[in-house]
Amino acid sequence: MISDLIDRDDRFRGILDRLSSKSIDDYYNPYRLFEWPDALPADMWWMSPELTTTHGTDIAAGLGEEQLHALSRHESMNFYSLNVHGIRELLIEVVRRIHTTGFETPSEFFHHFIGEENEHMWFFAEFCLRYGGRIYRQPGGGVASPSEQSPAVESLLVFTRILIFEELVDHYNAKMAADERLHETIRAINRIHHQDESRHIAFGRELVELLFEEVRKTSTEQELQGISDYLRRYLTYSFESLYNPQSYKDAGIANPLEVRRALLESPARAEAEAQVFRKTRRYLEKTGLVR
Ligand SMILES: [Fe+2]
Ligand SMILES: [Fe+2]
Repeated sequence: MISDLIDRDDRFRGILDRLSSKSIDDYYNPYRLFEWPDALPADMWWMSPELTTTHGTDIAAGLGEEQLHALSRHESMNFYSLNVHGIRELLIEVVRRIHTTGFETPSEFFHHFIGEENEHMWFFAEFCLRYGGRIYRQPGGGVASPSEQSPAVESLLVFTRILIFEELVDHYNAKMAADERLHETIRAINRIHHQDESRHIAFGRELVELLFEEVRKTSTEQELQGISDYLRRYLTYSFESLYNPQSYKDAGIANPLEVRRALLESPARAEAEAQVFRKTRRYLEKTGLVR
């Protein structure tokens, strides 16, 4: 058993060393890297149409090209705004834990993580403010977490939420980086973020697995079921944050709240959610976090 532990720890350290070296090699100055034209053309896609929340629905079918472009522009603003808010929240949690008991091993990597996320938050906010004049507010609500959490469970849920968030946005980043219909500035932001996030996701998957092994030893069946139920709800909640009535309203669509409700209930949403979280779900089920 002890040799198992040492092996696992060695493996984790090896991965952390490799990822930290890669962070150093890939280091860039975000404040110089991007070109920021004064304006981006309105008559083009700002988000791949297949990735917009209205794709393939009756709502999109009733719109002309100009309005579809406007919708993709406002949905993209919502997407980058979500990134800003998600990053702020994950930074708070990682900063809370760096160099504290239990996080000695990943603390070196946390420095890269924190530095990179601060830069991501800057370029996403810059994009929203420059081309949209605002950052969309975060949706209210959230998901109630299982009650009476031990610090170990709390940390497990924090890093699993971070992983889910990073995998969600990465799906969009990877697709938009490769989409030739999009402006080069948009593609570059998505490309750079995807590059950094591949390290964060590799790290997150290792860390979550280790944290879960500890939690599993000390939790009851009921507590484990509570974690699984919570994560299921969290996956859906994260996906639904892409559907912002404000972006529909800004794109000139009538009855934005009803539109949101109809979109959330449509089979297209369930399909898109399953598609976007395909790998994430497989991981969560394989580790046993989601049953
Ligand atoms: Fe990021
Ligand atoms: Fe990240």
